[in-house]
Amino acid sequence: MRILVTGAAGFIGSKVMYELARRGDFVVGVDNINDYYDPKLKYARLQRCGILSNEAAWDSNIVKSTLFDNCLFIRISIADKPVLDKLFARYHFDKVINLAAQAGVRYSITHPYSYMQSNLYGFLNIMEACRNYNIKHLIFASSSSVYGMNSKTPFSEDDKVTTPVSLYAASKKSNELMAHCYSKLYGFATTGLRYFTVYGPWGRPDMSPMLFATAISKGEPIKVFNNGNMMRDFTYIDDIVEGTIRVIDSATDRGIYENSVPYRIYNIGCSRPVKLMDFIHEIEAEMGKEAQKIYLPMQQGDVYMTYADTTRLENELEYKPHVTLHEGIRKFVEWFKSEDNPLDL
Ligand SMILES: NC(=O)c1ccc[n+]([C@@H]2O[C@H](COP(=O)([O-])OP(=O)(O)OC[C@H]3O[C@@H](n4cnc5c(N)ncnc54)[C@H](O)[C@@H]3O)[C@@H](O)[C@H]2O)c1
Repeated sequence: MRILVTGAAGFIGSKVMYELARRGDFVVGVDNINDYYDPKLKYARLQRCGILSNEAAWDSNIVKSTLFDNCLFIRISIADKPVLDKLFARYHFDKVINLAAQAGVRYSITHPYSYMQSNLYGFLNIMEACRNYNIKHLIFASSSSVYGMNSKTPFSEDDKVTTPVSLYAASKKSNELMAHCYSKLYGFATTGLRYFTVYGPWGRPDMSPMLFATAISKGEPIKVFNNGNMMRDFTYIDDIVEGTIRVIDSATDRGIYENSVPYRIYNIGCSRPVKLMDFIHEIEAEMGKEAQKIYLPMQQGDVYMTYADTTRLENELEYKPHVTLHEGIRKFVEWFKSEDNPLDL
């Protein structure tokens, strides 16, 4: 298959690109390598796929992987429509997986405009290109944050999601609505993946595992929001990537669609919510050091609990998460302390 992966220098995208290239698909990865967090980490992830930093840094330079003959990387923004159109015209993709986005719930409170550019305008460019270049299946990242103020758990794809509490969540819900509309109007398949708090090696520096591990290693205090009274359905990166690839490989004529619109949503989570304090204790145990803690009230944009009902993905595509929190944190801390981690500790 010929597959475009956007957000290919990101936490999830780099691993998806690696796995697809490894099994032999022809993969083109794109990313604008923005500085929302340290680009050193993005270049190091690309390096793992055989994409050399000095070549990847140049806009629109076509970089061949030194590891896989069937893998290329190009630094572009999905918000740049003419460049994106050229890419689609040149490579004749079968499928597109859109993981490029401005991520982060808390950042959307202070930087609302970043979310419009990548998550709405960029996403529209992707959908227009899919429509104009006959893409058979667009898979895109949504988020557990679309469940917003819902209090019924576990969160099911059949629940109503009309109460987002951050602009990030609103942008992801908008993507789902836009995709439904394009599938209905133009007949190509779209599938939205609601990821639940992803963690693991090569993770994001703005998310709690990395924030906690960094603070512990520097002897600085960690911020514990809502006085630790929160639960998250932490999901290990390998389980997320496996679920994503199952969806990429899935046939779009399985008779699963409602009202004959080829549009589907899946939760991808672990289905085992963990108390924030238990999560912190796991990290402390692996780091071999207790964290100093500052207890703070709930942050704007945060929700009390996330909890995925993954029955749909299990029934339709035999997805089962495998990695326990204990094992996942062990692997994360092992990487965090290793030479592979390019960040300054
Ligand atoms: N990690 C999680 O826990 C989580 C949870 C729910 C949803 N998601 C979603 O999954 C996707 C991947 O998340 P991630 O954790 O890998 O985030 P990430 O920030 O590590 O990766 C996103 C990548 O997209 C790139 N990007 C941003 N805007 C772009 C643009 N306009 N053009 C090209 N590239 C652009 C960034 O440079 C980054 O490398 C995102 O859509 C995110 O919203 C992630």
